Amino acid sequence: MIGVFDSGLGGLSVLAAIAHALPRADLCYIADTAHVPYGEKSEAFIQGRVLAIGDHLVSLGCGLIVVACNTATVAAIAALRQRHPQVPVVGVEPGVKPAAAATRSGHIAVLATEATARSQRLAHLIRDHAGHLIVRIEPCPGWASRVEMLELDDPGFAAQAGSKIEPLLATGVDQIVLGCTHYSFLRPILAPLVKGRAGLVDVADAVARQTIRLAGNNAYGKARLMLQATRHPEHLQAALPRLGLRWLGDRTDHPAGICPV
Ligand code: DGL
Repeated sequence: MIGVFDSGLGGLSVLAAIAHALPRADLCYIADTAHVPYGEKSEAFIQGRVLAIGDHLVSLGCGLIVVACNTATVAAIAALRQRHPQVPVVGVEPGVKPAAAATRSGHIAVLATEATARSQRLAHLIRDHAGHLIVRIEPCPGWASRVEMLELDDPGFAAQAGSKIEPLLATGVDQIVLGCTHYSFLRPILAPLVKGRAGLVDVADAVARQTIRLAGNNAYGKARLMLQATRHPEHLQAALPRLGLRWLGDRTDHPAGICPV
């Protein structure tokens, strides 16, 4: 079984890519909804949550863990790998490398949570893959919470997002990295704002490809999906159709349950 987790709903974008890529795999998704958003929490707090959820996934029998959250990857993937050296761990990092490969103007931007935006790991990623480019890092406080509340077609938010995006485009940015898994679900709002002027870079498919590489026997199961949340699991279940993921719900034998850690 493959365990996938995030602070909330955002990692479902990664889960969907993995379920497409590995249609027979058994999957377990945990949303740490009692503690969302991670982006405003300290590194020590996020590490504690990542280790607790990692322990729980291993105890459920997961042989591969996907940290479907940029913020948690930045804060705690090294600690998780150290804690469970026998379990391969796949993380999510903002798609700076593909954005750097795609830009023509030499200007790219990274939209991320506050914790990811201020992290050394993002700074190193930019140094290693985009050192020759002009890179704008834009923290987007509140955006992940919008997704959690399923406020996906709120015109007020579209205006707020526009005021973040327009100045980037005005400086010549032509690739915008969605550096938080929640932001994939904001595409319907963001895509019209950038249309024809910039690409939106998401790494869910790249994470799925890496998951295939490391899956081994975890790729073969009965295509089951277990859903758990640390608070309001019914909200996780109900979000699937709202996010265009009803088909994922069809893989569940039971309604989403409470995660005990
Ligand atoms: N989805 C997460 C990420 O990719 C975190 C959002 C949050 O909890 O702040 O960064």
